[in-house]
Amino acid sequence: MEAILLVGGQGTRLRPLTISTPKPLLPTAGVAFLAHQLARAHAAGVTRIVFATSYRAEMFEAAFGVRAHGVELVYVSEAEPLGTGGAIRNAARALTSGPDDPVLILNGDILSGHDVQAQVALHEKAGAAVTLHLTEVDDPSRFGVVPTDGEGRVTAFLEKAARPVTNQINAGCYVFRRSAIDTIPEGEVVSVERETFPGLIASGAVVMGHVESAYWLDVGTPEAFVQGSRDLVLGKIASSAMPGEPGDRLVLDGAVVSPGAVVRGGTTVGRGAEIEAGATVLGSVLQDGAFVSEGATVRDSVIGRGARVGAGAVLDGAILGDGASVGPGNELRGGLRLWPGISLPPTAVRFSTDA
Ligand code: GTP
Repeated sequence: MEAILLVGGQGTRLRPLTISTPKPLLPTAGVAFLAHQLARAHAAGVTRIVFATSYRAEMFEAAFGVRAHGVELVYVSEAEPLGTGGAIRNAARALTSGPDDPVLILNGDILSGHDVQAQVALHEKAGAAVTLHLTEVDDPSRFGVVPTDGEGRVTAFLEKAARPVTNQINAGCYVFRRSAIDTIPEGEVVSVERETFPGLIASGAVVMGHVESAYWLDVGTPEAFVQGSRDLVLGKIASSAMPGEPGDRLVLDGAVVSPGAVVRGGTTVGRGAEIEAGATVLGSVLQDGAFVSEGATVRDSVIGRGARVGAGAVLDGAILGDGASVGPGNELRGGLRLWPGISLPPTAVRFSTDA
């Protein structure tokens, strides 16, 4: 089976991490996020993937080449981003599938443990134009929802509402009949969620929902990105792409963790990164060359490449861009982000370093 992987977005919600690296290439549990998706796609029977690129397009081929994780890779770039639907239509030029063949479409920022083969089987059995993976969420009021009828046929795509009619949401993994992709207008900006799917339903096409609530996470926000990395390291979702066994922490080659430091909760310590004695690092992502000084506390945070956390500083839910530096004694909490290269001087006043 062939797949199209949508990886052209700018990842604005994950800035400043995405200034230098597109979201799908951010190091997650020791490898580029996409490596986990490629490994899972391969396990589901995908043999060839077309990457639909736009933002920092050249970085994808440099990262993965023509073959990775058992899958042949092809790259199709948009000069101007065409949106999710336009990108699928554009990338379809590189498909070799016949008109009735199923083509898997994956969002490049979803970590999902659902059964892709079961989704494809439903698609084939129903003779559908498109079959979407739908996941169920506790609080659907934060999402547009996707109701289905008794046969599993999608009846509508509903905008966000205070009291949604269902808790099923679009989980960002679709099976398209190859010929259904050709109904998307060529060379135009099109949203698959807002235009293509509602249009197919209005025209009477069979659009199915494969409802499955396996592990599912959209890593598009800083909190979710850190959670995704943490969950992979802890083994809450299995990935054959992870360079090590699941456990409390993943320490990559060349990293130095003092025996006097506490490092756990699914933390990744990147190549050449260093954690000094007396530091506590929980559930975080330390990119290559990051440095955490003695007595510092880092929780649920991302420390960019070569960024430094000073002695006794506290980071909780914070993001440090590449090469940023937090002087001793500072506290950064609740989503604070430091742009690449920015340095916070040491604080004059010292408090307790309890997190
Ligand atoms: P934000 O800017 O933070 O919303 O992130 P994003 O740009 O990734 O947008 P979003 O999360 O809505 O995108 C979902 C998926 O579609 C991601 O994998 C994106 O890379 C991809 N995507 C979004 N827009 C485009 C586009 O215009 N072209 C291509 N090729 N991919 C896109």
